[in-house]
Amino acid sequence: MNIEYKNITKKDYKKIKNLIQNAWFTDDYLETKNNKKPNLKVYATGYLYHHLSTSSYTIAAYDNEKLVGFLFGRAEGAKIKKCFINKFKQFLVGIRMLFTKIGRRGLKVYFKEKKIDDSLLNEYDKEKNEICLFIVDEAYRKKGIGSTLEEYFIAYLKNLNKHNLFLYTDSYSNFNYYEKRNYKRHSTRIVQYDNENAEYYIYIKEI
Ligand SMILES: CC(C)(COP(=O)(O)OP(=O)(O)OC[C@H]1O[C@@H](n2cnc3c(N)ncnc32)[C@H](O)[C@@H]1OP(=O)(O)O)[C@@H](O)C(=O)NCCC(=O)NCCS
Repeated sequence: MNIEYKNITKKDYKKIKNLIQNAWFTDDYLETKNNKKPNLKVYATGYLYHHLSTSSYTIAAYDNEKLVGFLFGRAEGAKIKKCFINKFKQFLVGIRMLFTKIGRRGLKVYFKEKKIDDSLLNEYDKEKNEICLFIVDEAYRKKGIGSTLEEYFIAYLKNLNKHNLFLYTDSYSNFNYYEKRNYKRHSTRIVQYDNENAEYYIYIKEI
């Protein structure tokens, strides 16, 4: 396996959306009454544009030109390319979502989670250097690709003379990766959903 690390291009968006969808948008609670799986591509599209509009750094791992993992991050104060265009695209996806039941449900969860994230961030008073979006294709996990992407981002931050980073994660995601990589859990919120509790966290690391 010969993995190459380089910046993403527009042609990678489709694969990135697939990875987002597989990582987070396959939950059972989103099944419709007749058990038909709804098309959740629109969630992944909104998610992608949201993170493109907030990230100053992107890096991806390729196996023979096929994208197999990526990390989006932000350094406080750094310029974000095409921020306005991507925010506008996210807004258009939001409008589209208003017209379907499943879309409205997704927007409700988005705003609920945003409120949780804002309240977690209130307790964090350091520089806002963030890992925004971070996924490795399931077939390529535990081979060192995620930690290499993370190291590229840390090198970018150090180059800008930054000394810490943070990220939001939750009990639906692989937060154990951050435990393994010596991040510290900084704050937690427990939220009750219909049949289960979910936990939301901020993890931090000095670099
Ligand atoms: C988080 C993620 C990007 C890690 O990518 P990865 O390529 O598997 O990570 P690495 O192979 O570099 O793992 C680095 C170390 O963490 C360990 N690790 C990874 N996942 C782990 C887990 N679930 N539990 C315990 N350790 C884990 C690895 O074994 C490795 O340990 P080692 O250095 O002793 O070998 C990947 O699991 C993923 O895409 N998860 C789904 C999306 C997600 O949850 N993203 C992050 C939350 S915001």
